[in-house]
Amino acid sequence: ELPIVITGVSSGIGAQTASMLAAAGYPLIGVDRNSPEAFEGAFVQADLSTPEGVKQAGEEVAAHAPNGLQGLANIAGVPGTAPVEVVFAVNVFAVRNLTLQLVEQLNPGAAVVNLSSSVAFDWRSRAQECRNFAEADDESAAIASAAQNPELAENSYLFSKQCVRALTESLSATLLPRQVRVNSVSPGPVETPILDDFKKDHGQAMVNSAAETLGRFGRPADIAEVICYLLSDGPAWINGTDIRVDGGLIAYRSSQAG
Ligand code: NAI
Repeated sequence: ELPIVITGVSSGIGAQTASMLAAAGYPLIGVDRNSPEAFEGAFVQADLSTPEGVKQAGEEVAAHAPNGLQGLANIAGVPGTAPVEVVFAVNVFAVRNLTLQLVEQLNPGAAVVNLSSSVAFDWRSRAQECRNFAEADDESAAIASAAQNPELAENSYLFSKQCVRALTESLSATLLPRQVRVNSVSPGPVETPILDDFKKDHGQAMVNSAAETLGRFGRPADIAEVICYLLSDGPAWINGTDIRVDGGLIAYRSSQAG
């Protein structure tokens, strides 16, 4: 079996995904800025908020995978309370650049899974803007210009996760000839360390009302289950799309609106 790479492996959804894949017998390569507490596999410490950090991560991952990879889960992400440049760099460009850097390693039949968010469910209205941003040749110029745009800067997390959808579509198209599938997963609020930052960013009442509607917050395993499924051989015909995993929150809110 060839290894699967997991970024954001040291906490929350990434750590849970790693433990489920390890239990299923997959060899793993984890990437994070922080060392994981419990992780069975090769670990690459890297800061994915800079192009150099992403490049270093890609090189070290490739060195651990001389025969190629069977999957890549781009799970590392930061909330909107982080500096706007960091939000765009980690949530969008690290996903793009790490995937493209590992293209040669991703064997036919491999799968890539990116993490979007249910807050980005109506991203289509901004599809072109997201595409232009996520596909920008000069990423530091794109980040600097988006950071100057008050609407994007204020909604940096929302915009970054909308861009992940656009990026998932374009990476899926790019990797189609290589027979590599690329999909995203969009969690609703999940109880991980990032949730406290969401409360600061989106408001305590807004986040808590999700748990009131659903009876509980999501658990890392609710999301990891779907990530593992998309990484497996099973869903051979699911490609270039997003799976919302929010316990029914968006459907409920849509049904109540207007
Ligand atoms: P978390 O905060 O528990 O884990 C994120 C991991 O990413 C951490 O281990 C962190 O060290 C790593 N990371 C962050 N910046 C990094 C950098 N510059 N370089 C290397 N590693 C870095 O968060 P959680 O909840 O596990 O989130 C995982 C993904 O799911 C994120 O992309 C997040 O945006 C997304 N998501 C989470 C939701 C939630 O409610 N927990 C809801 C929707 C999406």
